[in-house]
Amino acid sequence: MTIIIEQPQFDAAAERKVAGDPAELVLDGGFTVPDSNAFGHTFRDYDAESERKKTVEEFYSVNHINQTYEFVQRMRDAYGRLDKTEMSIWECIELLNEFIDDSDPDLDMPQIEHLLQTAEAIRKDYPDEDWLHLTGLIHDLGKVLLHPSFGELPQWAVVGDTFPVGCAFDECNVHSKYFKENPDYHNPEFNTKFGAYSEGCGLDKVLMSWGHDDYMYLVAKENKTTLPSAGLFIIRYHSFYRKPLHKHGAYTHLMNEEDKENLKWLHVFNKYDLYSKSSIRIDVEEVKPYYMSLIDKYFPGKLRW
Ligand SMILES: [Fe+2]
Ligand SMILES: [Fe+2]
Repeated sequence: MTIIIEQPQFDAAAERKVAGDPAELVLDGGFTVPDSNAFGHTFRDYDAESERKKTVEEFYSVNHINQTYEFVQRMRDAYGRLDKTEMSIWECIELLNEFIDDSDPDLDMPQIEHLLQTAEAIRKDYPDEDWLHLTGLIHDLGKVLLHPSFGELPQWAVVGDTFPVGCAFDECNVHSKYFKENPDYHNPEFNTKFGAYSEGCGLDKVLMSWGHDDYMYLVAKENKTTLPSAGLFIIRYHSFYRKPLHKHGAYTHLMNEEDKENLKWLHVFNKYDLYSKSSIRIDVEEVKPYYMSLIDKYFPGKLRW
């Protein structure tokens, strides 16, 4: 595997603001978790965990201050070239599994098990939607952005809830007070309800804060996946869904009809994106042939990343 990487430039001062144990923050998408998962387990109460809250708040302060329209454009431009490496979907799963081990406090299992548990839980309830099984398997592969071979992006540029940039930040976003320190907050081009966009323009036209969602979407799309648009939508917006979109219906003024249709599938997917320490263990070797057949069906053998 040959990897060529152009190091993105980060604000060193902003980087230093991420205090605490960064491993605490290797989370899937966000910290506002659903009340229970597909197996009926309840999750830890976010508000009750004061020791963790501080680290989470620090994470979101750096995230909100640095995720500007210009930053997202730069990241999409750099990573959209897909000139870092070539590998198969399964090789990526193994890569992710090797380097993000058990550092996720809500994910007491290797990454591969999170992916397979998500996929298998969906498969059980939606046996005919094979595209959704595969979507479950690959939805977090964009986390390879944390890997040294992909520029070792800081946590705030990979995980956490995502939100649109280029228009006013909605106060339903977690820790929204930190947006006041984002330069776009003071830019009249971007700080109105529609900002750079127009009513019903469709989320495809909207830049989202940069992270593993949008990166994996770009990888899938540019490698000409045949996944249906709902699958791509889930990959692209699963970290956007949790709070502002789902709980408060924020940003619906930017959506078009296709987004609203796809949102129904994202709603289905969300409850399978497990956080919990499920007691159901997956035998990787046993289910691998099934998933390899899905990968073959929807992706080329080697993908550009
Ligand atoms: Fe995720
Ligand atoms: Fe996930």
